[in-house]
Amino acid sequence: QMKFYQSGDEGAKLLPVSIKEWEERARKILAAGPFDYVNGGAGAGDTMRANLEAFQKYQIQPRICRNVEKRDLTIKLFGKSIPVPILLAPIGVNSILHPEAELAPAKAAAKLGVPYILSNVSTKSMEEVAEAMGDALRWFQLYPPKDHDLTNSFLKRAENAGYSAIVVTIDSTLLGWREKDLHNAYLPFLSGEGMGNYFSDPVFLSKLEEPPEKNVKAASKKALDEGNNTAFTWKELEYICQQTPLPVLLKGVTHPDDALLALEHGVKGVIVSNHGGRQLDGAVATLDVLPSICEAIENKIPVLLDSGIRRGADVMKAMALGASAVLIGRPYAYALGVAGEMGVREVIENFIAQTELQLAISGRSSIKEVDRLLVTDAYR
Ligand code: FNR
Repeated sequence: QMKFYQSGDEGAKLLPVSIKEWEERARKILAAGPFDYVNGGAGAGDTMRANLEAFQKYQIQPRICRNVEKRDLTIKLFGKSIPVPILLAPIGVNSILHPEAELAPAKAAAKLGVPYILSNVSTKSMEEVAEAMGDALRWFQLYPPKDHDLTNSFLKRAENAGYSAIVVTIDSTLLGWREKDLHNAYLPFLSGEGMGNYFSDPVFLSKLEEPPEKNVKAASKKALDEGNNTAFTWKELEYICQQTPLPVLLKGVTHPDDALLALEHGVKGVIVSNHGGRQLDGAVATLDVLPSICEAIENKIPVLLDSGIRRGADVMKAMALGASAVLIGRPYAYALGVAGEMGVREVIENFIAQTELQLAISGRSSIKEVDRLLVTDAYR
């Protein structure tokens, strides 16, 4: 949009601008199964809506007459410089959205220097994605398997393929009650979609009775069963942290006491997330719990947030309330379904442009100046 504003109407966009428009375009293009899979939430969708509404409780209170000619959105995470405080959230089974699957968002993120978090249940393997990304920053998300050999195999492969952090997602040891998917009888995984990391794993393959080519359903079920790790405890998290030199972040934290326990058990970062409202029906909105979690963590480790980020203003509000960075999920998934790599790139570029504009117009020249003073809830 910055480019558009600067060039007048040349280069006017045929692509959607707002995330709502991307969502509506995706609804038209995609079949009901995949669209609803991305779009839906758990139960009545209350948490998904609450995530969005939480951002309306805070307003930005700008300062004026400050020199904002030069603007700097860079942040540092785990010693690496990132051009903007935005990462692509792990989203599994991208083959239901686009034939290039995870390669498309991975390449779009790589070109813009935005870190890409590859899902454990990606259709492309972590090595294929790494190859498409070159030296660009990438993290690997793990649904902690029951089997420690498999855990260790995934961790080693991620290290070897140049992933620089591990995100352990803990809010999904059971799949949430997703009524649209139940209605559509839609679960893509059993036909082998989203199995890229399992079906390329020597440890996983060695434990199958028949190879996936012979019985894809049985192999996929076994992979899903590994992730249904309902016995997972803090001790298990500590075990994972001890197995890898990479920083481990815990994703799915919504309580300050859990954030502290995660810290105690060795994580190097937490991600305040309710999985975009897809898991626990009726759960708290992430922005609502962010301040208490940041207060508990006292800047000892980065606190990231996702679930409901749709605009530059949302990025700013989350940062003002203490987040070190944010993740975007559905916004790029819709764009992937509509326009592949180009769509994802467009969405990221628009997020960057909006965030920069918001920063400048609120009278800040650096993202470091975005603190609690930027937002107020006094006018609720
Ligand atoms: C997800 N999410 C997710 N999280 C994760 O850790 N591993 C995964 O494989 C997936 N898969 C996935 C698929 C789809 C279709 C969606 C929409 C989400 C959750 C994701 O990482 C993130 O937490 C939310 O998407 C953030 O909320 P918003 O931005 O979608 O509101």
